[in-house]
Amino acid sequence: MNTQYWINHYEANTRLNDTMKLPAAPCVLPEAIRAPIARSLAVFQLGESGGGTRLKRYAKVIAPLAQFTGYQRAIDLFVAEEQSHAALLGRLIGHLKQPLLHKQWTNSIFRWARNLVNLEFNIQILLTAELVAEVYFGLLYLRCADPAVKQVSHKLLRDEMKHLEFQRQFLAERLQEFSPALRRLWCLQFRLIHRFVAGVVSLDHRDCLQAIEVSPAAFRSRCTQSLERFMDRLESKISASDAQTATKAVLTTT
Ligand SMILES: [Fe+2]
Ligand SMILES: [Fe+2]
Repeated sequence: MNTQYWINHYEANTRLNDTMKLPAAPCVLPEAIRAPIARSLAVFQLGESGGGTRLKRYAKVIAPLAQFTGYQRAIDLFVAEEQSHAALLGRLIGHLKQPLLHKQWTNSIFRWARNLVNLEFNIQILLTAELVAEVYFGLLYLRCADPAVKQVSHKLLRDEMKHLEFQRQFLAERLQEFSPALRRLWCLQFRLIHRFVAGVVSLDHRDCLQAIEVSPAAFRSRCTQSLERFMDRLESKISASDAQTATKAVLTTT
């Protein structure tokens, strides 16, 4: 895994969130549109505001492996970028005249579920949440008329797309060590977790989705498409790595 690329990326990118200027004009969305979008964004803001303690602990375990040199630093910067998302969303929620949340039921469920099995499972739940966030911010960017919501959603969409690439590179390295049967099992359970997360988000945020004229079913369908794109790219990356390993093995035996 090219961890140096990610260290450079996060070091350059995160500060853009901290220094981003939001449009000065007040929000003029009708109340029936503003309130559900603002409440929904407050839930995402809470989800982004974790300290990443378990993720950092996991990185500490993985970092000594040869292919993950520098991973711990990359994870520290990744967590800092998620915290910059929380701060940016906090400013956007202020613009929408909505109070921040300190506790919320889906956020509590995700935090509980992330600790159910082990640290690697924790990363999977985080990754499914990022896949869903990519769809959510993409839709807000396209369908919400408020310029500040558009601007922040666009930036978060781009950041989450990079996060997905970061996670994909990591997972490709991990899954390469699995047997084909174990990989299939992993993909199956990952799809199930994703379906659960997308289902919960589509119900919990249905008022916001309604405000931007997206049905919960259409949202889940977009989430499934996004998941399949992710899985296709993951599988191609693993196949390419398998082919490289096989070539290396042939070259060393000849
Ligand atoms: Fe984020
Ligand atoms: Fe993310």
